[in-house]
Amino acid sequence: MAQVKITETVLRDGHQSIAATRMRLRQMLPVLEAMDDIGYNALECWGGATFDTCMRFLDEDPWERLRTIKKYVKKTPLQMLFRGQNILGYRHYADDVVYEFVNRAVDNGIDIIRVFDALNDPRNMEAAIKAAKDTKSVHVQGTLVYTISPIHTLESFTRVAGELEDMGVDSVCIKDMSGLLAPYDAYNLVRMLKKHLRVPIELHTHCTCGFGEMTYLKAIEAGVDIIDTALSPFGEITSQPATETMVMALQGSIYDSGIDIEKLWPLTEHFKQVRKELADEFKLTMPAQINPAVRKYQIPGGMLTNLYNQLKNQGAEDRFDDVLAEMPNVRRDLGYPPLVTPTSQITGSAAALNVLFGRYKIITNEVRDIVRGKYGRVPGTISEEFRKMCIGDEPVIDHRPADDLEPELGKAKEELAKEGFPDASPEDVLSYTLFPEVALPFFKSHKKKQTQEKA
Ligand code: CO
Repeated sequence: MAQVKITETVLRDGHQSIAATRMRLRQMLPVLEAMDDIGYNALECWGGATFDTCMRFLDEDPWERLRTIKKYVKKTPLQMLFRGQNILGYRHYADDVVYEFVNRAVDNGIDIIRVFDALNDPRNMEAAIKAAKDTKSVHVQGTLVYTISPIHTLESFTRVAGELEDMGVDSVCIKDMSGLLAPYDAYNLVRMLKKHLRVPIELHTHCTCGFGEMTYLKAIEAGVDIIDTALSPFGEITSQPATETMVMALQGSIYDSGIDIEKLWPLTEHFKQVRKELADEFKLTMPAQINPAVRKYQIPGGMLTNLYNQLKNQGAEDRFDDVLAEMPNVRRDLGYPPLVTPTSQITGSAAALNVLFGRYKIITNEVRDIVRGKYGRVPGTISEEFRKMCIGDEPVIDHRPADDLEPELGKAKEELAKEGFPDASPEDVLSYTLFPEVALPFFKSHKKKQTQEKA
């Protein structure tokens, strides 16, 4: 009854989590056809941090990457990660950008779009979900960002999942980006969701705390339909549980994934080599051990190192433990946002400022914007007193933040024309709208190369 399907993440989250998102298209090409033959549920290969990184560090056009992968992967659905109204960036974009992006992504080869919002505010996922549904061809997956707080309960997660289902999503993903989800909590959450939802449930975790495989096993016993794994050279530690391990663990059971383990070994060998190349070229320090303390502080793994380095730059590394202890207070004051981009950075810097200069002696604009409602509805409540301290008597918006945004694409096209790109493709206009300061130098250097080739 219960075959478990496997989504392979090595082409996106695997290298994003282990190798700073630096894998190149040419390092994927030699095995794409073999990967297409494995029988995966999907290949996650686009979105998240890959888009920005392609142009910023790899001199690659992300759209070209997608089209090329599609050319070689003919049977297996291609999946992307989409940050709701933030698309692939760090601020809310207007609806015209969201619609156009979804349509171009689908036209260029995406089959499954996983949509999430840092606050689990369904209104921030609404436009993306509607755009995806309007294409009538793409599978749209709604997402619960997993977190731990006094107000995040089985009931609250189930309520958000229900809202997503009502919006017409084809499946729901539990996204445990920090690897906080403990095995028995996963069991209870999946059981609860299976009881209340009709659509399939997928689980995405990271091994940061050391729970990964245990969490998957309990979720599978509770009836989860799909799990996300990464081939071992880009699996485990801060990434997903290893594909090979999970395939072998389920082999011969009623949950058997149906994947032939022998077909995976050549892929393992290939990506071992790629991992070595990336470590050498980019001088990457690959994460060497798990970090169970992440659950104690309930903050993403990557953030621990970032925070420490920030403090060190200010000669305040001895205050690290104080900052960690302050994080839960800031989170409470802000209404318990899950900690994922961009809320993790906002909460972390507020905690650091509190420790270094006294509680809320300095308040950042981002903190004020959360209080103003500009990021959406926070899961909990913000006290009257805290609100007054941050924004005085300014009004708090209670509508969808993107309702206040004017269309952006027309202006972006005009700007590009002024920069010498009057015939920019719709895809290039989107790259520019999302990351103008990265896309423009990228376009210019490519134009120069093309002119030199012609000359
Ligand atoms: Co992830």
